[in-house]
Amino acid sequence: MTYRIAVVGGDGIGPEVTSVALDVVRAAGVDIDTRDFDLGGARYLRDGEILSDATLDELRGFDAILLGAVGTPEVPPGVIERGLLLKMRFELDLYVNQRPFVTTSGDGGGHDFVVIRENTEGPYVGEGGALRRGTPYEVATQGSVNTRMGVERCIRYAFELAQTRERTHLTLVHKTNVLTFAGDLWQRTFDEVAAEFPHVDTAYNHVDAACIYFVQDPQRYDVIVTDNLFGDILTDLGGAVSGGIGLASSANLNPARTGPSMFEPVHGSAPDIVGTGTANPTAAILSAALMLDFLGESAAGDRIRAACADPVTGSTTHVGDTIAARVAG
Ligand code: IPM
Ligand code: MN
Repeated sequence: MTYRIAVVGGDGIGPEVTSVALDVVRAAGVDIDTRDFDLGGARYLRDGEILSDATLDELRGFDAILLGAVGTPEVPPGVIERGLLLKMRFELDLYVNQRPFVTTSGDGGGHDFVVIRENTEGPYVGEGGALRRGTPYEVATQGSVNTRMGVERCIRYAFELAQTRERTHLTLVHKTNVLTFAGDLWQRTFDEVAAEFPHVDTAYNHVDAACIYFVQDPQRYDVIVTDNLFGDILTDLGGAVSGGIGLASSANLNPARTGPSMFEPVHGSAPDIVGTGTANPTAAILSAALMLDFLGESAAGDRIRAACADPVTGSTTHVGDTIAARVAG
């Protein structure tokens, strides 16, 4: 089987790390037919295209999308993020953002948990507005949208995942003591779905407490489910306590499979190191492994993860070549 992969290298170090990740996929013996899409801040500056509906429709025809990073300092914040990345997440209904965090250490001090971040709602929907901007009477509002359907499908995915893991444990993270409306919807939905999964043990943590546990006791976690913004912030922290953001991978999933899912490293475009050949491609490689899992090639995904378990340092190509050689065995 040959998989059709749309490649959005994007800006900064994005193209450098995606090309290495694709080499590793090929080294794993998986047949891919790739097509590059020139999208991101640089493209926008050149001809104004961010992500047209026609391009989006083309992307729908692929089995998966591999994305490097988007965003460039010359474009104001939000333009590319909202117009490209969030547009893909929303329009392709990539409602689960799955981010695994694994460390191993000889003394048994490693951890292995995965954050399931809701990826199409919350404060990311862009509800709100500004009034009297730039005056002393300025007002800005930014709403958070939480629908029963959106919350429930994300929570159900997290329970289904927890059920397949050894520890079968799921923690809801929110801020129910302050965000009482959204928190009530999340907690009630969580409790109702939990009744369908009697073999999954559950817990609840406020997001501020979860930050302490991420640093001091990450071993307590197996699967975590949380809203879009909490998940964004927590997964940077997850990367920081799991070997650094250079290793953090993510899958933007449409579990209903009504279209392609999208896979990207958690890190950004890192314009400060672009072209130096020093970007760590491991996060992109591990994101490609998540892509293979979702395409039904988890044996190849496992081989790639095994090849990344013993970290490689050095230049982008050195890391890529070393991991590719390990994968090819
Ligand atoms: C991420 C990123 C994005 C997000 C940005 C670039 C819009 O930080 O994937 O975590 O906030 O979701
Ligand atoms: Mn983020």
